[in-house]
Amino acid sequence: VIDISTLYKETNMFTYDEGYTSTASCKSDITYIDGEAGKLMYRGYDIAYLATQKSFLDTAYLLINGELPSKSELDDFALEMKKRSFVHEGVKKLFDSFPDAAHPMAILSAGVSALSTFYFDHLNIKDEKEYSEMANRIVAKIPTLAAFSYRYSNGLPIIYPDINKGFTENFLYMMRSYPHNYIELKPIEIKALDTIFTLHADHEQNASTTAVRNLASTNAHPYAAISAGIGALWGRSHGGANESVIRQLEMIGSVDRVDEFIAKAKDKDDPFRLMGFGHRVYKNFDPRATILKNIRNELMSELGISSELVDVANKIEQIALSDEYFVSRNLYPNIDFYSGLILQALKIPKEMFAVIFVIGRTPGWIAQWSELNQQKSVKIARPRQLYRGPKERTPEY
Ligand code: ACO
Repeated sequence: VIDISTLYKETNMFTYDEGYTSTASCKSDITYIDGEAGKLMYRGYDIAYLATQKSFLDTAYLLINGELPSKSELDDFALEMKKRSFVHEGVKKLFDSFPDAAHPMAILSAGVSALSTFYFDHLNIKDEKEYSEMANRIVAKIPTLAAFSYRYSNGLPIIYPDINKGFTENFLYMMRSYPHNYIELKPIEIKALDTIFTLHADHEQNASTTAVRNLASTNAHPYAAISAGIGALWGRSHGGANESVIRQLEMIGSVDRVDEFIAKAKDKDDPFRLMGFGHRVYKNFDPRATILKNIRNELMSELGISSELVDVANKIEQIALSDEYFVSRNLYPNIDFYSGLILQALKIPKEMFAVIFVIGRTPGWIAQWSELNQQKSVKIARPRQLYRGPKERTPEY
């Protein structure tokens, strides 16, 4: 690592690094990724431990507060989540003004931004108690806003939170009740979604987290920063990949067409790529994908799901894991390959996939916002550029 933070001051020179592929924008204690070893840790805990032994609320608490909760701390946190899950009726009125076909991510982003008008005091957080109130409030309200956004965009009556239900079950209840009728959920369904939330809770300085940190560096309201994160996550290149996996599987349509599309993916003159394969950082395997693969198998077998789409996915996976083209380029299934199939089995429509990502990622964004704000002095995020426009032109009078 070369520290060049004083380069400009000392030499009047700066570096050019499009997409920041070689630039660390901050020092952080939150998430560690080793792409070569397929390792992901939150605050020193391996993701496999958190995803299989702990709940999403444990993980959210860990990210926000730095330590895993004790039993009583977890109980208090879960109660906080229930108490704070309701949103002001004024937010509902705001939703009424959106067009029927509005995308749930657009509604969610607007709803979170609107929360900053109700909790304006969070602009000046002075102590731990105020931080905790701000953090708990947003983590608790996001699932409610997320479920509302789905129901509004489908013209369905909204369902209020049920304080007798746990965090993840409550979200599924608010979203799926009528017209799917809320049938008692199987524990595996709650576990599958809870695991997806945990696996998405943080991923160091990705595009949406960078957006959150950039806003935080200007002293913006924390909920405005989260809303910016939602905007960044909405993009197809970030939060939309698992939706693309399902769309592609639907396009392939049947097992006997898989070979044709594998050939297209290998053809260097064809821009077609197999969605859900490959990763910029994980070059041996995506540790999150390994965990989700097990959950997917468990879920499908317990729910007795079998469909052409699942068969298509299984065949692609089988071929890619042994085909020389994919193996030599380290193109393993990534988290999105499995999460899309799981969400579909949970009857979550494609346009909600990125919203699910937001629910999981919110504690990570809050942790990153807080880490930046705890620094003694915060440097505003203000990259340089290489100007390539015209030199000064002579105006014609
Ligand atoms: N299908 C077919 N070939 C592929 C794929 C794919 N999905 N991904 C990469 N390749 C090939 C490239 O053509 C290239 O081949 P070459 O060496 O013969 O030129 C080689 O593998 C390396 O590809 P790069 O694009 O250089 O790899 P990079 O690390 O830049 O890209 C990325 C990673 C963007 C994820 C890519 O693998 C991809 O487009 N995958 C499909 C989309 C996807 O699943 N995205 C979700 C990622 S997970 C997440 O963001 C949460």
